[in-house]
Amino acid sequence: MITLIISILLCSNLIVDCSYVSTIKVGDQLNLTSQLVSSPDRRFTLGFFTIPETDNTYLGIWYTHDTSSTKVWVANRATPVISSSSVLVIDPDTGKLIIATGGAAIVNISDNQSGPTPNMTATLQDTGDFQLKSGTDDRILWKSFDYPTNVLLPGMKLGWDNRTGRNWELTSWVSDKFPDLGAFTMSFEANGTNSHRLMIRRRGQPYWSKLVKELGSVSRYRNLSYGYNNEERYFSYAESCEGNGCTSLWLLNANGQVEEGQADRRYLWRSEFCYGFNSGDGCAADSDMRLCWSRDDKFTLLTGEFNTGGRLFRHDDNSSLSFSDCMVGCLNSCDCLAFNSHENGVGCDIWTGKSKFVIDPHVTSAPKYVLVSTSKGKILITDSVICRLIVMHLKHFITRVV
Ligand SMILES: *[C@@H]1O[C@H](CO)[C@@H](O)[C@H](O)[C@H]1NC(C)=O
Ligand SMILES: *[C@@H]1O[C@H](CO)[C@@H](O)[C@H](O)[C@H]1NC(C)=O
Ligand SMILES: *[C@@H]1O[C@H](CO)[C@@H](O)[C@H](O)[C@H]1NC(C)=O
Ligand SMILES: *[C@@H]1O[C@H](CO)[C@@H](O)[C@H](O)[C@H]1NC(C)=O
Ligand SMILES: *[C@@H]1O[C@H](CO)[C@@H](O)[C@H](O)[C@H]1NC(C)=O
Ligand SMILES: *[C@@H]1O[C@H](CO)[C@@H](O)[C@H](O)[C@H]1NC(C)=O
Ligand SMILES: *[C@@H]1O[C@H](CO)[C@@H](O)[C@H](O)[C@H]1NC(C)=O
Ligand SMILES: *[C@@H]1O[C@H](CO)[C@@H](O)[C@H](O)[C@H]1NC(C)=O
Repeated sequence: MITLIISILLCSNLIVDCSYVSTIKVGDQLNLTSQLVSSPDRRFTLGFFTIPETDNTYLGIWYTHDTSSTKVWVANRATPVISSSSVLVIDPDTGKLIIATGGAAIVNISDNQSGPTPNMTATLQDTGDFQLKSGTDDRILWKSFDYPTNVLLPGMKLGWDNRTGRNWELTSWVSDKFPDLGAFTMSFEANGTNSHRLMIRRRGQPYWSKLVKELGSVSRYRNLSYGYNNEERYFSYAESCEGNGCTSLWLLNANGQVEEGQADRRYLWRSEFCYGFNSGDGCAADSDMRLCWSRDDKFTLLTGEFNTGGRLFRHDDNSSLSFSDCMVGCLNSCDCLAFNSHENGVGCDIWTGKSKFVIDPHVTSAPKYVLVSTSKGKILITDSVICRLIVMHLKHFITRVV
């Protein structure tokens, strides 16, 4: 009775909707329009979301107060939901957390078959962790923090659990429209007790890395920590702000950069891309780099066409190809002039040959990442064009500021 009165008071005082729940039980179902909201601070929301460009539906978690509603976890990144009658339930027979359509499991979210344990619950915690618990002893049977997608939240661990053999690592989305497994992974790698580093790999090969002790000076989050013992080896960080407005996160984006969240987004390091011949700023040098590239060569996003028309042009629709695969495809070929991924960020267009790039002031052609080289004997864009580029960039800048 007292609790009821208190919650009525709270609800009427704050003028909020008090009908939110953070837990589902066996027999409950979460449909495409209902959501779980974490308790007591309502920091996180769990529910189905649809990406408008693809019309694909996923089950995910996001910060309740994040205006961009960035997904911090996705349950079914490789298996979008098709039917509008799909629901999240705890399977009463297996005790698994599943997405079901018409009673049949279409996605198994928790892999561990705990058996039909009575009174199981699944609760979205205020930390952002979604936990499946046994009703009899409150033991955690499965938790989303053990299955990271592309985001490390405060308190989450990146590393290795020697008790379960689990590797906690992030894997990027293919593009910001496709949550499916992308080209980059981020892991905590420890060699001995003194060398702890965060490592980003691109399709398995080192791409960027930094010692944890050097991260403090580049990250906006100051409270970084790591553990190194027989049970687990991990990297973690703590919240650096307070209150409901905090949307702290480290997001490994589809291009292999780490975005640090808060009210504004910031990158963990300066370079937009690691080119392989450039080993500064944590970028890994690639010994396989073609000799035809130099460290002065940079890709610049430009609008225009090559003066031979569209003849020297390769098109690849493979939907597993991410932006970085297109860039590497270009870097691996000495006659590459430019590249871009398709509109949704998957599949590649690659321009090759020896023609000059003509800037289109009327912005009618699709933008592309054009190789701008200033090294001797390999000037693809002349100085006068570069001047025009600078003017164009200034215009862009001014347009954006206005
Ligand atoms: C979804 O679930 C909510 C809450 O249980 C319910 O009010 C709503 O009618 C359901 N929607 C559909 C389409 O079944
Ligand atoms: C889900 O797990 C059950 C066993 O619990 C298995 O029979 C079924 O094939 C799995 N479904 C999918 C879609 O993986
Ligand atoms: C699966 O669940 C059983 C029983 O709940 C537990 O003993 C076991 O450690 C779990 N396995 C994993 C890989 O989590
Ligand atoms: C399960 O929940 C029901 C109703 O809350 C309760 O009566 C029962 O004792 C619980 N069973 C166990 C094994 O905890
Ligand atoms: C680990 O460190 C040792 C000595 O410092 C070095 O020889 C070895 O190559 C390192 N291993 C890896 C995987 O980096
Ligand atoms: C993992 O744990 C086992 C025993 O639980 C231990 O023997 C082994 O040394 C541990 N491995 C590491 C790398 O610490
Ligand atoms: C840093 O994080 C640890 C837990 O990870 C916490 O105990 C400590 O209070 C934090 N310190 C600061 C200054 O936030
Ligand atoms: C598509 O690209 C992926 C990633 O590079 C590759 O593994 C796969 O074989 C490609 N598929 C086809 C059909 O070319």
